Amino acid sequence: MGDLVLAIETSCDETAAAVVDGRRILSNIVSSQADLHAVYGGVVPEVAARHHLTTVNAVVDRALAVSGTSLRDVDRIAVTGRPGLIGALLVGVATAKALAYAAGKDLVMADHLHGHVAACWLAPVALDPPFVALTASGGHTRLDLVEDYARPVLLGQTLDDAAGEAIDKGARLLGIPYPGGPGLEALARDGDPTAFDFPVGLRSRGPGGLDFSYAGVKTALLYATRDLGADGVAACRADLAASYQEAIVRPLADRLIRAAAQAGVPAVSIGGGVAANGRLRALVEEGAGKHGLSVAIPDRALCTDNAAMIAAAARFTEPIPWPDFVGADAVATAPPGGIAA
Ligand SMILES: Nc1ncnc2c1ncn2[C@@H]1O[C@H](COP(=O)(O)OP(=O)(O)OP(=O)(O)O)[C@@H](O)[C@H]1O
Ligand SMILES: [Mg+2]
Repeated sequence: MGDLVLAIETSCDETAAAVVDGRRILSNIVSSQADLHAVYGGVVPEVAARHHLTTVNAVVDRALAVSGTSLRDVDRIAVTGRPGLIGALLVGVATAKALAYAAGKDLVMADHLHGHVAACWLAPVALDPPFVALTASGGHTRLDLVEDYARPVLLGQTLDDAAGEAIDKGARLLGIPYPGGPGLEALARDGDPTAFDFPVGLRSRGPGGLDFSYAGVKTALLYATRDLGADGVAACRADLAASYQEAIVRPLADRLIRAAAQAGVPAVSIGGGVAANGRLRALVEEGAGKHGLSVAIPDRALCTDNAAMIAAAARFTEPIPWPDFVGADAVATAPPGGIAA
């Protein structure tokens, strides 16, 4: 079986398509809608779906052109089937079904979170199991034991907000426009991460705990900004950003390293949009080094939403033969266990 996959991802506010040959990325095109949503302070589902519709064909054409392949050459078409904004997902799924039907190809309905985990299967990182994967994104924060890419097993997850959600809401409190992650990181570079002692969720659960909680730190930042007042905040914005970022990313790194020790595996990986954060990347590298673990840190472009990671997940998901996929549907929610691999 050939292994050339055309993948499409439209689960949120990035319209993305990629062509991947085995572990090799031939093209990875992302058209971000972030500017369109910035005026609203977050993603507006209806706006996202409509914009995917106007953009998706051009993004697919570009992915094929850059890869030097044609629809006829690809072995399978993959698309994010869940979880995500339902209107946004439907545009990608309808597009992929139409292309697969017209070209007589099998279709793979891939899981977006499976994609974030499988990103480190791709070259040049190309990590092989067993390892523990951290996925920290806009909607999810979880640790999985990966003994087989086809079946990540949940070890721990957030009990309330996702790390990315906390980052975006905190950034907003500090006057950083949507999407807040890169802006918060830039501001934090000039600040002192020990200036404010923000609470770390679930620290009291002791050394074995692998779950996360980010509702408290968000509230703590809200109260700190209220107490400081506008002038006080303006005087120490960078310290607030650095301390807040530290309270979010340090537990991610610490619990990832601890999970690997508990599971007895020799490697760790990170994925999801928050894994683009330089402080998190440095802490994970440092922790892995101290504990003699191998570490897979994908390029930032493979951490934030993209379609190459969907091609990677598709490699470990059963294809639906032509033309049986016509009835396949998008699903907004994650399945029990969180990943539909
Ligand atoms: N440099 C950065 N530092 C910190 N956070 C970042 C950085 N870059 C992006 N993020 C955060 O990553 C999140 C987006 O990640 P991603 O695109 O994977 O989320 P999503 O696809 O919307 O959610 P999910 O993957 O859970 O469905 C946002 O919360 C964003 O602020
Ligand atoms: Mg994502």
